[in-house]
Amino acid sequence: MTMHTATAQANPNIAFIKYWGNRDNDLRLPSNGSISMNLDGLFTRTTVSFQSSLPFDELIINGHEVPGKGLKRVSYILDLVREMSDVKVNAEVMSENNFPAGAGIASSAAAFAALALASSRAAGLTLSEAQCSRLARLGSGSASRSIPSGFVEWKMGAGDDDSVAVSIAPPEHWDLTDCVAIVSAAHKKTGSTEGHAIAATSPLQNARLEDTPRRLGICRNAILNKDFETFAHIIELDSDIMHSVMLTSNPPLMYWQAATVGIFHQVRSWRADGLPCAYTVDAGANVHVICLGGHAKELEKRLREIPGVSNVLVAGVGGAAKIVS
Ligand code: PMV
Repeated sequence: MTMHTATAQANPNIAFIKYWGNRDNDLRLPSNGSISMNLDGLFTRTTVSFQSSLPFDELIINGHEVPGKGLKRVSYILDLVREMSDVKVNAEVMSENNFPAGAGIASSAAAFAALALASSRAAGLTLSEAQCSRLARLGSGSASRSIPSGFVEWKMGAGDDDSVAVSIAPPEHWDLTDCVAIVSAAHKKTGSTEGHAIAATSPLQNARLEDTPRRLGICRNAILNKDFETFAHIIELDSDIMHSVMLTSNPPLMYWQAATVGIFHQVRSWRADGLPCAYTVDAGANVHVICLGGHAKELEKRLREIPGVSNVLVAGVGGAAKIVS
């Protein structure tokens, strides 16, 4: 029996300038560039082992076998790896998360980043960071950003090969903390793949795309200059613009809950009173409140006191996806 195994670990990431909509849905080529930060301490760890004795690919997440759509999406990445390598046999994929999946904490980002790295290495390939980012992107767009370290920008690129993410600053560049206020740990009804496909039905999407280079520039500079005030305004604006597109698409997508909006009001009033924090929300109800590191304890305490907040996850700036065995 031939057996090729590797284990990789990747952090989820939180987007500061969001990706919403594709110019090519199959290749997950985005309609706009995006910027994010990896979330330290939250991770997916995935072991891929190609085994000649397996009659088909197998996917096990947190101890449960996953059939159907989830498995198909994983097999698609495994097929690409089998095409690129000499390994042609089926694989067992065992994956564990230490954070709730499907609730706007970018579980698919960590999952496909870990899968791309583990499966390519298990097949004997040593991909460059860019090649690995591309492979992760084909599983889930935002996963491309969980391959490089720290603060990351995913460039639109001209095509499949160069639509990849690069690090714009290492984790130690800026001490930011993400306090994720969990409003709902339930699996969201409309996943991002379906959401991207209807983004263009919103009359606001074109305006959003036209203005994105400006927002990317402001956000990139705010990170490089560690200018929290500018950063706070641009990430809240970008999140609000993406949700405006979601709310006005056909069918409309409303990811926010009442508690989500309640947190927006609190965060703005805390910032006005001198606590450096700002909100951003992905495709879910949970609110990522980003603050300067030294203020995380105070922020976490305040978020826990808000009715409707069931938990708060706290994460600093994370590193690159890595092989762990
Ligand atoms: O990678 P996907 O298909 O799960 O899309 C992610 C979409 C958002 O999280 C809402 C925004 C982003 O840039 O991460």
